[in-house]
Amino acid sequence: MCGIVGILGVKPVSQDLIDALRRLEYRGYDSAGIATVENGHLERRRAEGKLRNLEALVNDEPLKGLTGIGHTRWATHGKPTESNAHPHMSEKVSVVHNGIIENFRALRAALTAKGHVFHSDTDTEAVVHLITEELKAANDDPVAAVRAALGQLEGAFALGIVFAGHDDLMIAARSGSPLVIGHGDETMYLGSDAIALAPFTSEITYLDEGDMAVLRRSGAEIYDVSGARVERLAIKSQASSFLVDKGNHRHFMAKEIHEQPEVISHTLSHYIDMAEGRVDYPELGLDLADLSRITISACGTAYYAGLVGKYWIERYARVPVEIDVASELRYREAPLPKDGLALFISQSGETADTLAVLRYCKSQGQRIASIVNVRTSTIARESDVVLPTLAGPEIGVASTKAFTCQLAALAGLTLLLGRARGTISPELEQELVQGLLEVPRHMTEIMADEAQYERLAHDLSKARDVLYLGRGINYPLALEGALKLKEISYIHAEGYAAGELKHGPIALIDENVPVIVVAPEDELHDKTVSNVQEVAARGGQIILVSNGEEDAAGCDLMAHIKVPDAHPFTHPLLYAVPIQLIAYHTAVFMGTDVDQPRNLAKSVTVE
Ligand code: M6R
Repeated sequence: MCGIVGILGVKPVSQDLIDALRRLEYRGYDSAGIATVENGHLERRRAEGKLRNLEALVNDEPLKGLTGIGHTRWATHGKPTESNAHPHMSEKVSVVHNGIIENFRALRAALTAKGHVFHSDTDTEAVVHLITEELKAANDDPVAAVRAALGQLEGAFALGIVFAGHDDLMIAARSGSPLVIGHGDETMYLGSDAIALAPFTSEITYLDEGDMAVLRRSGAEIYDVSGARVERLAIKSQASSFLVDKGNHRHFMAKEIHEQPEVISHTLSHYIDMAEGRVDYPELGLDLADLSRITISACGTAYYAGLVGKYWIERYARVPVEIDVASELRYREAPLPKDGLALFISQSGETADTLAVLRYCKSQGQRIASIVNVRTSTIARESDVVLPTLAGPEIGVASTKAFTCQLAALAGLTLLLGRARGTISPELEQELVQGLLEVPRHMTEIMADEAQYERLAHDLSKARDVLYLGRGINYPLALEGALKLKEISYIHAEGYAAGELKHGPIALIDENVPVIVVAPEDELHDKTVSNVQEVAARGGQIILVSNGEEDAAGCDLMAHIKVPDAHPFTHPLLYAVPIQLIAYHTAVFMGTDVDQPRNLAKSVTVE
């Protein structure tokens, strides 16, 4: 994940910027840079690779500014070169950025037509030129120019901006990616993570979604998405005592749910060349064209990610996929095909059953690939090929961001398979990539109204049993929803394929059994709606999670959770978020130990 830092100080800030970036190293990066305002103009140093390269450069050619921004970049748009490293700048503006600017191609074309010259392949540089252009229209008023530019940006992002000629000014904005302000003595700080600021100050303010902050040494003015001046609480940071803190969230699980727009951007961009709009992962080093079958194995939530993968891979890449939970596959003595690929999915990379199946598959001559979050884990080390998820550390026992990042990696693999086997045309590939590119923004939209989940929690907390239904690719989401609810709220919950309702579970339906239906408007929607009506006819209480309108259900609903319209390929990534929020808020309402539910461990290293 990329990292942002900024300092408005009373002494040269370059060394402090580098030290702060060092505290963000754990997020991963492949280049770094800083820029400061010096005698009214902008000066910058950038380097590929580790921070020590940047530090050596700054030692040779010091930066003297008292106001500066810094960035560690994990390449998304464009290769990890110095010219693509942040900060990006024009003569007047310098910007560091986390996230994705979805409409950067259109912005770049329009700004190029106006005479702006681009020097990188990044989406970020479009922001620099856009603000520079808006400065002209705003009589060189930086606040007005940034406000005008923000209104034109689509995507999920966090920005730190400094200006030539403005030594006492830094502007920050967030939409989907976190940002925190630090309050010091005549000094102000900016960070994508409180950890970056821990040695400087413990008094911090988290920006809310859509906020823009104008920082001066004397303090910060914060404006909400409507442009109204707002007060945001300054709190005492715990970051100095924890390597990974909860931010302004009550639980790690909440923080991790909210990190998804950012970590999904990073995971997707590991597999997809966003600038070209096509999948690109030469590191895979596997011949995907001649695979006879893929065998997927995993446990718990990772297994449900694999089940989504089966639907995607079979549909788009036309490769048969077998999938089983690892604790079963390890003892089934299953015959495995020649030229088969065995794929393992694990957040921790240490799950005992998954590892045991990996070793069995290896002994049967399968090629071994794994989707893991911990790159140094045993499963990663014993695999021929690793497809990483860039979720960052997941602390909450209930898996959230690791799940959606597993889906992002599986989406990338599906596109790679489809291209290799000729089942996904270049046009379809562009369409699917565009859909994926929009996921972080849609996730942010889904998280905008959490009050509805709090209201729902009140009703769900009274239930003894809850059913989840979904059809097709939404079936694994129903399973995942039920697992999430049961593990953190301790309410009994089951997920079913909606078509299975009449084969048994419908006997459970009465007015005391809430039924949560994952039903985006896809080609199976009408069939799911029929099941909804069967439930309603028996007095069941329905919670519909859908991009469709409420009346499409044809019956009264207990709640309707509206999800934005999106490409159907991306539905599993998006519908994961409401089911996480339902479980989270229900558990919070019930007062359980959300991050460490009873009887569960984060990493199951024994059978
Ligand atoms: O580390 P892994 O992804 O291999 O873990 C697999 C399961 O133990 C894990 O997903 C578990 O089901 C979670 N508690 C689900 O939230």
